[in-house]
Amino acid sequence: MRRRTVISVAQSRRLRRVEVERAPRLGFIRPTRLGFRVGVRLHDGQTPEDYVRVLDKLAHAWKVHSVRLASWKPGKVVLVATLADPLAHVTLPVLSDGLLRVRVGLMDTGAPFVIDFRAIPHWLNVGATQSGKSNLANALFVGLAPQPVALVGFDLKGGVEFTPYEGRMSALATERDECAELLAGLIGIIKYRMALCRRHRVKNIWHPRLPEAARPMPLVLLVDEVAELFLMADPKAEKDAVAAVSTRLLRVAQLGRAFGVYLVVCGQRVGSDLGPGVTALRAQLTGRVCHMVNDDETAKMALGDMDPGAVVAAREISPAMPGTAVVIGSEGRWHRMRSAHVLEEQAEAAAAEYAHLAPSWAELTRGAVASDDLDPDEVDEFTAPDLEDLPV
Ligand SMILES: Nc1ncnc2c1ncn2[C@@H]1O[C@H](COP(=O)(O)OP(=O)(O)O)[C@@H](O)[C@H]1O
Ligand SMILES: [Mg+2]
Repeated sequence: MRRRTVISVAQSRRLRRVEVERAPRLGFIRPTRLGFRVGVRLHDGQTPEDYVRVLDKLAHAWKVHSVRLASWKPGKVVLVATLADPLAHVTLPVLSDGLLRVRVGLMDTGAPFVIDFRAIPHWLNVGATQSGKSNLANALFVGLAPQPVALVGFDLKGGVEFTPYEGRMSALATERDECAELLAGLIGIIKYRMALCRRHRVKNIWHPRLPEAARPMPLVLLVDEVAELFLMADPKAEKDAVAAVSTRLLRVAQLGRAFGVYLVVCGQRVGSDLGPGVTALRAQLTGRVCHMVNDDETAKMALGDMDPGAVVAAREISPAMPGTAVVIGSEGRWHRMRSAHVLEEQAEAAAAEYAHLAPSWAELTRGAVASDDLDPDEVDEFTAPDLEDLPV
């Protein structure tokens, strides 16, 4: 005989009471610096996801700039509304925020946007011409200049962007051949640091077992207009040179995290059409900044396929607000942010003031032998996860 589930009168009442699509049950509306915050009790059957889907509709209905879901707990969500776009005027100065950390701008949550190379070692900075890519590179430069960090620049648009800051840079390349040479030098530095780490039986230069006096100086490589590295006017003559640059750059990216060599790669688009090594390089650049771009495809390439909302937000960036971008940081969530506007004079002043902190290229490469490439086994040895390894 089939047994039936017994439903009590109380349960039955409860089931009958469930409704869908009801007006939200708002709690207290508390003013904040940029707008207001309000708790909402979820109706039975609703989840925080239901609110995430309709945030746009709420913003229009409430006539505010935007609504975010700030937090949730079972049965309750907290919404934060912003009355006007906090990114319309970014007055926050660029600031160093600890070793290898720079506050480069403001997020639409009102919090500063921090690029932290120890948390995310390599960054891809994409955008159309005049979207604000170089400004972000300049902001990073200004923030890193006072720190004990070596800076190296690749600027293949004739050096127009970085030449004024050359004083604070340990090396600046404006031609592809020079880049290839500096990359060989960087691989030499990495091999030297690799040997150092082996001697101390550690897997990265930040390990506490490495004596402080032996810890090498971290280095940030800023690459402006990366496509210039890969574009070939005469493919026959330039193919080998491009292949060399591309493999070396990839090796530096693969091992950079462990050995304190960090990358910031700026470009209008960084797609596979530039060459076979570009997709592999892009996969290593886990920090993503997408300024205004001209097509969906470029936005997707920059932000990945993780969240269609991020791509939509990137496509909505107005050309009237250069420096605005969609960023993906450490928790994998996306945010809108706008970089602090860095005047050229400001960056030049920082370069002059802190020029004495720049180690020379000869000092940086002391003991290192410029090298063409690394053994893939060595790459594996230092990129494989290791239980003893501390987060770097
Ligand atoms: N965060 C910002 N706030 C205000 N103006 C900006 C900002 N970022 C860039 N700009 C301005 O926008 C223009 C283009 O910026 P730039 O960084 O040179 O773009 P890109 O390198 O992408 O071509 C410049 O005139 C710059 O001063
Ligand atoms: Mg530029």
